[in-house]
Amino acid sequence: MQRGVAQLEGARTRLQTILDSLSAGVIVFNKQHAIDTVNPGATRILRQPLGAFRGRPLEDVPGLADFAAAIWQRSELHRTSPEAGERDHWQDAFELLRPDPVGAGGAPESVNLLLRGATLPGGARLLVFDDITEVVSAQRSVAWAEVARRLAHEIKNPLTPIQLSAERIEHKIGPKVDDTSRAMLSRSVATIVAQVQAMKQLVDEFRDYARLPAAQLAPLDLNALVLEVLGLYAPAQEQGRLHASLADALPPIEGDATQLRQVIHNLVQNGLDAVAERGDGHVQVITEAAYGDAGELRTVRLKVADNGGGFNDKVLKRAFEPYVTTKSKGTGLGLAVVKKIADEHGARVRIVNRQSEPAEPGGAAGPVVGAQVSLSFSRFASAPPHRLTEQPAPARPDIPTPGPAAAAA
Ligand SMILES: Nc1ncnc2c1ncn2[C@@H]1O[C@H](COP(=O)(O)OP(=O)(O)O)[C@@H](O)[C@H]1O
Ligand SMILES: [Mg+2]
Repeated sequence: MQRGVAQLEGARTRLQTILDSLSAGVIVFNKQHAIDTVNPGATRILRQPLGAFRGRPLEDVPGLADFAAAIWQRSELHRTSPEAGERDHWQDAFELLRPDPVGAGGAPESVNLLLRGATLPGGARLLVFDDITEVVSAQRSVAWAEVARRLAHEIKNPLTPIQLSAERIEHKIGPKVDDTSRAMLSRSVATIVAQVQAMKQLVDEFRDYARLPAAQLAPLDLNALVLEVLGLYAPAQEQGRLHASLADALPPIEGDATQLRQVIHNLVQNGLDAVAERGDGHVQVITEAAYGDAGELRTVRLKVADNGGGFNDKVLKRAFEPYVTTKSKGTGLGLAVVKKIADEHGARVRIVNRQSEPAEPGGAAGPVVGAQVSLSFSRFASAPPHRLTEQPAPARPDIPTPGPAAAAA
């Protein structure tokens, strides 16, 4: 009997450990719909101290009334009329609106959740959920690229005839009317032409984003590329605002030099923007290699870190979407392009805010001390890299310079 109890305790502890280490949120409700068990994942995703609400209904947790209602409705539906393929659990997406995280009364932040629910023996219910906001965001950027392609096509075609017709009207009619009318005609035509130009430029930016040519991968020395690009930021380096810290004997990767040059430009530019207001601002471009236990090469990383204000919460989730910008003159394309190029290279991009060390070991991390974007490459070159050929810097670092493939398309 005693052994049985001990075994049960052991199993319970193990289960708790598993629940604690899951990144997904797990909540178990008892038969009366009250919260019975929650894991730290649930607290983190919903950003509510759910542990304090044990024994109470989910509806009691501030901000989660709609979430709770949706769960019960879905769960009831599943119990009474399960859809095909939903025999033992249901699955649904839910968009949770959280009040403005900064508390400044701004727009609420939306979090996309994937929910799975099941009824446990004895009438208890299990809810497992994950934050899939980043996945949704990635899908959105694919959709954006498609929109861009179509828009460019549909809008650009009629623009040239519009402009030419306006100019022709001025040319033909102008000489036949009195001075006042002619002046008015000129002004109107100038407005049309200027607006048409603006529209063309907008569409071109869109198109450049969507048309980024496929990467031409070849053995590449990332360190050499970083040094080459940083050479174009001599003033920032002389002021001590920008420096490189490069790994010794960095293994060559499979990369497209033109595209990765663009990546470094975009990230350095963002870093410099982020520290522009700081006297002690600095941006660091880092390369490093990580090896596994058996000494095998795992990944080659390119990191750009700064000590600016960090990404704001809303941007952090959507930074890869085009036109997400907090700058008055920003295009919001820089990181969208970085993401596309990383995808072309099979590299993983991570955006994080750097936080200072916790005050006590195991405590909460300290305040944000800057931003960091890192690309992890996992395609390595077997042949030694070619020497890089000099290429002029793009005129607008945020806009991808179309390569030969783009020009031909
Ligand atoms: N290093 C950084 N520190 C803080 N915020 C950043 C950083 N890099 C990018 N961001 C945020 O991400 C947004 C999008 O960046 P990006 O796509 O390069 O477009 P843009 O620079 O034109 O705004 C920026 O407007 C800014 O809010
Ligand atoms: Mg930028």
